[in-house]
Amino acid sequence: MNTYTKSLGQIVTVLGAQWGDEGKGKLIDIISEQYDIIARAAGGANAGHTIYIKDPADTSKQLKFIFHLIPSGIFNENTVCVIGNGVVLELPTLLEEIDLLEKHGVKTDSRIFISDRAHLVLQYHKIIDGIQEEMKGKSKVGTTMRGIGPCYTDKVRRNGIRVHDMKDFAVLEEKYRANLAMFKKMYGDFDHDADAELAELKKISERVVPMIIESAHYLNEAAKEGRKVLIEGANGALLDIDHGTYPFVTSSNSSVAGVISGTGMPATKLNNVIGIMKAYTTRVGAGPFPTELDDELGEKIRETGGEYGATTARPRRCGWFDAVVGKYSTMINGYTEINLTKLDVLSGITTLKIATSYKHNGKPLASFPANLDILKNVEIEYLEMPGWTEDISKIRNYDDLPENARKYVEKLEELIDCKIASIGVGVAREDMIFK
Ligand code: GDP
Ligand code: IMO
Ligand code: MG
Repeated sequence: MNTYTKSLGQIVTVLGAQWGDEGKGKLIDIISEQYDIIARAAGGANAGHTIYIKDPADTSKQLKFIFHLIPSGIFNENTVCVIGNGVVLELPTLLEEIDLLEKHGVKTDSRIFISDRAHLVLQYHKIIDGIQEEMKGKSKVGTTMRGIGPCYTDKVRRNGIRVHDMKDFAVLEEKYRANLAMFKKMYGDFDHDADAELAELKKISERVVPMIIESAHYLNEAAKEGRKVLIEGANGALLDIDHGTYPFVTSSNSSVAGVISGTGMPATKLNNVIGIMKAYTTRVGAGPFPTELDDELGEKIRETGGEYGATTARPRRCGWFDAVVGKYSTMINGYTEINLTKLDVLSGITTLKIATSYKHNGKPLASFPANLDILKNVEIEYLEMPGWTEDISKIRNYDDLPENARKYVEKLEELIDCKIASIGVGVAREDMIFK
């Protein structure tokens, strides 16, 4: 174990600092060996967190896992995983993930708990997700179609169905049918087999009910007893419903605010808040992306970085590192440190560019604009830095990185005004430099 992991506090949060897919899953898997409890705070199966572990049958090979709901610390057998109240939970997906783990010999019994206050994502949410996207036409969000927006809408409209309702099926069924009748008035008749879904829910309730806990109480009691809690964010700061590129965002607070509301851990208890940033930028779905590279270089980064959505397999849009985004996201979330990922992907690019500021109509912008018409038309000031040609994926000591790679990292630190504590140089657990 490295000294960095050891130095982390009792309650640590890991958050996506750009538009998602920064590599949260990998860092959580690495540092979870030091933690007793790994808790997901927000989002749902829109998230796709990738972990590579050594194949126990042949340790020269890596096995790839993508989790949409199960916290990324599950491979450390001493951890307990909690799905917090802020998560919108699609139960069949959760059970599929559990089954997959069991198939690989990972014991999940008494290791996965779900909050009684989490909201259930149901089939009708996914259908409505599709209807709404179609209605939006040209201005569609490009959602993951996992029913996230419609489920959070129900939560805010106060007609959601929560996990504790699984304990009283008659009540659940009544709420379910009332919702369906309402949606059919709102959206017209749509194809939907309510009886089949209700029967499925009833069937799986036997497996689900034993996993239900009062999660905020559980987490706070655990913290009081001195147990260590690692909180896993989902999505990314620029996808946050309040602070992101609205309306091209997800439907929850993927910033630190969502950690507090989504777990019930008070803000005063949080120690380190680690922001994960890619050494460049990616985005899936629609919405402005100032530093996007719509050219061969963008494609080269996509191919080298394997930039295809972990949830939808859509090609991710790629572009230069945007320090305006980095600084803004650091301001909102108050990162105590950054994990910079995928530095290896930039090897071989002759000149690297970093967006340092935005101007609009010739005037510098003080921060990140709310108005997307402004964001779409900003003039970007770039800083150019010489790249490096060496393969850096086997490097484990910061000082062994090529000088230009170190200069790039140090420039990012200076621009975003936050220390970079770790640097990812590949997909595997070992591919991390602790600075
Ligand atoms: P998450 O949603 O933030 O957990 O990130 P994803 O799993 O959606 O996407 C990150 C992708 O980058 C995954 O395929 C990871 O295996 C991969 N990855 C993470 N860190 C690194 C790194 O340092 N270098 C390389 N080459 N790949 C990485
Ligand atoms: P992780 O946790 C990348 C994006 C979608 C879409 C928008 C809204 O893996 O980093 P939604 O289905 O949430 O209503 O979609 O948000 N999005 C993500 N992009 N990574 C994610 O999660 C994302 N979760 C949502 O692509 O643009
Ligand atoms: Mg992802």
